[in-house]
Amino acid sequence: MIRNIKYKKYWRKTSLKQKGVGDFFLNLIKEKKPKNFLEVGIFHGVTARNVCELLNAIHGDNFKFTGIDLFMTEYEILKDEFAPNTKFSNPLKNIYYKYIQRINPYSYEAVKNLLKKYKNNIEIIKGNSNKVLQTIETHYFDYVFLDGGHKYETVLFDLKCLTKVIENNGIILCDDYDLTYAPGVKKAIDEYVLLNNFNLKILNSRFAEITKNLN
Ligand SMILES: C[S@@+](CC[C@H](N)C(=O)[O-])C[C@H]1O[C@@H](n2cnc3c(N)ncnc32)[C@H](O)[C@@H]1O
Repeated sequence: MIRNIKYKKYWRKTSLKQKGVGDFFLNLIKEKKPKNFLEVGIFHGVTARNVCELLNAIHGDNFKFTGIDLFMTEYEILKDEFAPNTKFSNPLKNIYYKYIQRINPYSYEAVKNLLKKYKNNIEIIKGNSNKVLQTIETHYFDYVFLDGGHKYETVLFDLKCLTKVIENNGIILCDDYDLTYAPGVKKAIDEYVLLNNFNLKILNSRFAEITKNLN
């Protein structure tokens, strides 16, 4: 029996901030029990930490988490990719990170720090996913949360690099399917699924789950 893990925000920003969305997401992962998880676009590392907590509850030490993010190195790209605002609306959080923690929560160091409990299970890669995914072995990932660049070309290329995941019966879960301000996400997913004859399921009106077509 796996203990009930609730999605926590760790006083940071996350895209799964709407009530119930984080728990919905964790339940999807819990159903599949992946061992090799990839998150493209880890931002402050909140979802990463939640996934590690869950995989640890399921598999003990026997899991791996890989995360990729630009970490603000390429400002022009970031703007085009519809990345979320990194500033907190709560001024106390700005003070806390600037003067007490003295760390930018949206940085490689801060994410590594948030995940330090799982330092033997994680690999955090700083870089553009379109480039990084061409240099790493993708076939062993059994679950991918794709939530990095939101531009049509970026999403489509990330998906193309991850085709082996689906072919090996893994899952790609894309966030922000059908966002009005980033229509390229839906366009890329629809095109990719059609081209490869993969299965597409829309969950909770925002996640696009891509799997192998078993028919
Ligand atoms: C919506 S946020 C991710 C939120 C995170 N998944 C969560 O659950 O809190 C998108 C992230 O993708 C990153 N990003 C955007 N374009 C990228 C790219 N081409 N390569 C890698 N990361 C990228 C941004 O830096 C940002 O941190």
